Parts: sequence; C-alpha cells; structure tokens
Amino acid sequence: MQILISTGDITTNTADAIVNAASSSLLGGGGVDGAIHRAAGPGLLAACRELRAGTYAQGLPTGDAVATPGFDLPAGWVIHTVGPNARAGETDPALLASCFRRALDVAEELGAQTVAFPAISAGIYGWDPAVVADIGLRTVRDYPARSVRSVEFVLFDGRTEQIFQTAWQGLETAAGETDA
Ligand code: APR
Repeated sequence: MQILISTGDITTNTADAIVNAASSSLLGGGGVDGAIHRAAGPGLLAACRELRAGTYAQGLPTGDAVATPGFDLPAGWVIHTVGPNARAGETDPALLASCFRRALDVAEELGAQTVAFPAISAGIYGWDPAVVADIGLRTVRDYPARSVRSVEFVLFDGRTEQIFQTAWQGLETAAGETDA
C-alpha cells in the first residue's frame, strides 16, 4: 500500500473516501468535523441523523467507524470515526489505533481504493500529534489491505505535516534495520 503525507484541507481531497474525526453524536462539531459538514452540505447531517435513529442510537463508540455518502464533497464517501479524547482521560493508544483500523475496514467494505485521513484526535481531543503520527502510520502500514491501494494523511498545517514526515522516516529506518 502506498502511503502519502501532505498538507491541505481534507474537504477538497479527491480520494474515494475521506475520514472524519467525528464526535460520538455524529451530528457535527468544530475542527475537521465542522469543515466536512459545511463542505458536504445538509445531506451529510441528514444521513448522520438517520444513523442515530437506527444502529447508532447511543452514538458511535470511540474507536469505531461508519460510512455515509460524501454528498457535495469531491470524495464519494465520508468514513466517520471517533477518536479518544485525551482531555477526558482517554489516553489508550489501542483506541486510537482502532480508529485507523476500523476506518480501513469500512473502506474495504465500500471497495474504496484511495483513502484520506486527518490527524485524528490531534486537535480538540488533545493528543500529541507525534503520537497520532506514530500510531496512525504504523496501523495503516500494517493493515492487510485488499481494495485500498493508497492512503494519504492530509495534515492541516506544515508543522503537523513535518511531524508525520519525521515519524514516517523513523518507521522506515527501523524497518530497514530489522531487514538488514
Ligand atoms: N483538513 C484537514 N485537517 C484539518 C482540517 C481540515 N479541513 N480542519 C482541522 N484539521 C486538523 C486539525 O488541525 C487537527 O490536526 O484535524 C486534526 C484533528 O483535529 P480536530 O478536528 O479538532 O479533531 P479531534 O481532535 O479528533 O477532535 C474531535 O472535535 O470538532 C469536534 O465533533 C468533533 O467532538 C469532535 C472533536
């Protein structure tokens, strides 16, 4: 699987599916969630309300993922996942890894070939971006993809992109040393 790291606004990304750092309510919020809802238009909120009326009456659990269409977005799908909230004491790395893994499970179910991720939990939810980079990159790298052939990490600012680039170089160096 190809892994790309870039700076940009994920709402303009043309991947088959973009991932949203959603809240458990699925009803929108600030950060990337708010930007995705604004760009996708009201259809997205309606689809999320339908999910809340059905399977996710209690909200989407932290670490889980679910898809809706992308509506007015260039991306065909939005895969909503709920990152752990460090500010509320959710600091278990397994929960954050689960977000990346479950989002890819859903992407596979959709038959998506290209997926774009933001830095889940690295904003309002207060995780250190370097930890998010390490967990996100490792989890995606190790995912046994069949349909997904390219994953792009779309970071909102150059500083976060640099953190992801450094983490990726570190992982590649470590992998090279293991192979040698
Ligand atoms: N494109 C890409 N990345 C973005 C964008 C965008 N348009 N807007 C913000 N980001 C970045 C932030 O800079 C941060 O690095 O996404 C990362 C995740 O930050 P948040 O959006 O705050 O997500 P998170 O920390 O997971 O908090 C989720 O915030 O908005 C609420 O409803 C959401 O309750 C949930 C919580």
